Amino acid sequence: MEFESIDEFHEKIKRIIISEEEIKAAVKKAGEMINSSYDGRPILLVSILKGSFIFLSDLCREINVPCEIGFMAAKSYYEGTQSSGIVKITMDLQQDVSKYHVIIVEDIVDTGRTLKDVAKLINSRNPISLNVITLLDKPDRRIVDFKVDYSLFTIPDLFVIGYGLDCGEYFRNLPYIAEFSEK
Ligand code: IMP
Ligand code: MG
Repeated sequence: MEFESIDEFHEKIKRIIISEEEIKAAVKKAGEMINSSYDGRPILLVSILKGSFIFLSDLCREINVPCEIGFMAAKSYYEGTQSSGIVKITMDLQQDVSKYHVIIVEDIVDTGRTLKDVAKLINSRNPISLNVITLLDKPDRRIVDFKVDYSLFTIPDLFVIGYGLDCGEYFRNLPYIAEFSEK
């Protein structure tokens, strides 16, 4: 993606749909839920890169029970704002998941393909338990059947950017979630 000017770049940010304050409050609540639902055995938060890196970093600071962090990279191939349906695991986890309550931390569930593939892979390695938390859920776009355990926000079928989510690798650093302007 190339921009003729800084104005053109800013015009891609159509409108804020979830503010910094709303995100902060919801992340705090999610952290409290995690703190109250585990039994003292270690938790492994598995961040699916790159989109979930900001959500993970805020969420893990709301957790006050033993927890480790792990990373996996999954790439869903996009043509512009449309998913191609091809998911590839480009970086695998280092940890042996059989020693942990695993929580997959995702940015957004769209068609559901990425999470279905990642969850299947992790499950095959026998974690003590496996749960999935996502910042955003776009249920109208689901193609494969996948149920997340905890979603902070349900949004309509819009392409969104910010707080880790990108379009063409830009806009991940916005502190809020915004609708992307296609024009
Ligand atoms: P899925 O496999 O179709 O569920 O897509 C999951 C991945 O597509 C997410 O982890 C995101 O990286 C990306 N994605 C889906 N919808 C959006 C969006 O609205 N904005 C930015 N990235 C998105
Ligand atoms: Mg993602």
